[in-house]
Formats: sequence, structure tokens, C-alpha cells
Amino acid sequence: VPVSVRNLDDLLAAAPRFHVDADGAPTSHQLATEALRHIDRLVGEGARTLETGEGVSTALFALKRARHTTVSPHARALELVRLFCQEHGIGTSTVTFAQDVSQRALPRLDLADLDLVLVDGGHGFPTPFIDWYYAAGALRLGGVLMVDDIDLWTCRVLVEFLREEPAWRYERTLGGRTAVFTRVGLGEHAAEWIHQPYVVRNSGSPRRRSLPGRVARRVARGIAPR
Ligand SMILES: C[S@@+](CC[C@H](N)C(=O)[O-])C[C@H]1O[C@@H](n2cnc3c(N)ncnc32)[C@H](O)[C@@H]1O
Repeated sequence: VPVSVRNLDDLLAAAPRFHVDADGAPTSHQLATEALRHIDRLVGEGARTLETGEGVSTALFALKRARHTTVSPHARALELVRLFCQEHGIGTSTVTFAQDVSQRALPRLDLADLDLVLVDGGHGFPTPFIDWYYAAGALRLGGVLMVDDIDLWTCRVLVEFLREEPAWRYERTLGGRTAVFTRVGLGEHAAEWIHQPYVVRNSGSPRRRSLPGRVARRVARGIAPR
């Protein structure tokens, strides 16, 4: 008889396996325990949260009674999460299971005022960027963004970019692989490159890199739009 799961320690002890490995055997590609503990600390009942991908983190958001949306194309895994919750006394009435790839689902969802966004779905180019654009774009001021698997090039570039953006404050990296940011500005979410320090710094010729300075002077003189 499945025991009821009342907190994160119970969930970790139950060790559900919602994913499959390369041979089709059940496994879990779950977040590092430190990252799960961070979510456990931050998220309270009624918090508005969203994640791309599905898994143990989804069960945790449900356990916390967050108004949560999980976006994943993986029907079987979503069903396993739902079943696990049902069998272990975790309500899922506050969870929306959006079954589709995030690049298709996110632009269609009505997202606003989110408290926390976890980017941990597709990791190929450009999925984490799309997830950031749509989901993190709907974070409230002070909302928290977590990006997992920062050893992968796509996620690493996203994190390096955000670390230089004034609208995002880098907080820490959990378990060596999940970067945490706080949204500290609500300005232009996807500005032109000359206003993005990371893009400028990593862009080609000195002539290119001096452009932002020239544009800034023109903006200051009122002859170029920001
Ligand atoms: C690393 S797992 C998520 C782990 C989860 N956060 C946890 O703690 O257990 C990533 C999941 O993202 C899903 N995924 C893959 N491509 C996706 C996409 N384009 N959009 C949304 N989810 C995707 C897959 O189903 C995969 O199981």
C-alpha cells in the first residue's frame, strides 16, 4: 500500500522514477536535491509557478499546493506523475498539465505574475531561450528563475547572458548545475543587442563593439531611439 507523501523528505524517500533511460528502463532525471530543497523553501500554497519539463519537481510543486503549470510533450511521464500523486495523497487540482513541447505551448498560455519559473524541459537550441523568453518574461518583479543543466552549452549561454543583464540578479548555483536568478527589473525583456552587455562583449570586431558607445551618445543627444 503506497504511503502518503507529506513533505519533500517523504517524496525523496519514495524515489519515483518518471523517466526512462536509453534502454527504456525507468529512471529519474530529477533536479539535484539542493535545487528541490530550494523550491521547497520558496514555494508556498497558492504560489504561481511554471516549469518546462516534468518529473519529481512537478510532484513537489503539487505537494506545495502551488498554482502550477508543467509543460511537457511526454504524455507517459505526465501520466506517471499524476498517478504517483494520486496514490500518495498529493492533490493535483492546482496543477495544469500542458502536454506539448514548450516552444508550441508557452506562446499560447496566458501567463502573468509568476512567482517562480523552472527551465528544465528541452535543452537543445533554442528551447531554453524560448522558455526564458515566454515563461521568465511573465515573472513578477522579485520572481525567481531557475535554469537547470548549466553545463550544457545552451543553458550556459543563457545563464552567462543573464548574469550581465541589469534586470536579473544572479543568486547562486545549486548542486553545481542549477542557476538561480531574481527578476529585479521589468524593462525591455528582449532588447536590441547593443543594449545587451553580454552580446556586445562577445560580438566580433572592435568597430561592432564600439557601436553601443556611439549609439549611446546619439541617444543622449536625442537623435537615436533607445
Ligand atoms: C530533465 S527532465 C525534467 C526533470 C524534472 N525537473 C525533475 O525534477 O524530475 C526534462 C524533461 O523535459 C521534457 N522535454 C523535452 N523536450 C521538451 C520541450 N521541448 N518542451 C517541454 N518539455 C520537454 C522531457 O519530457 C524530459 O523528461
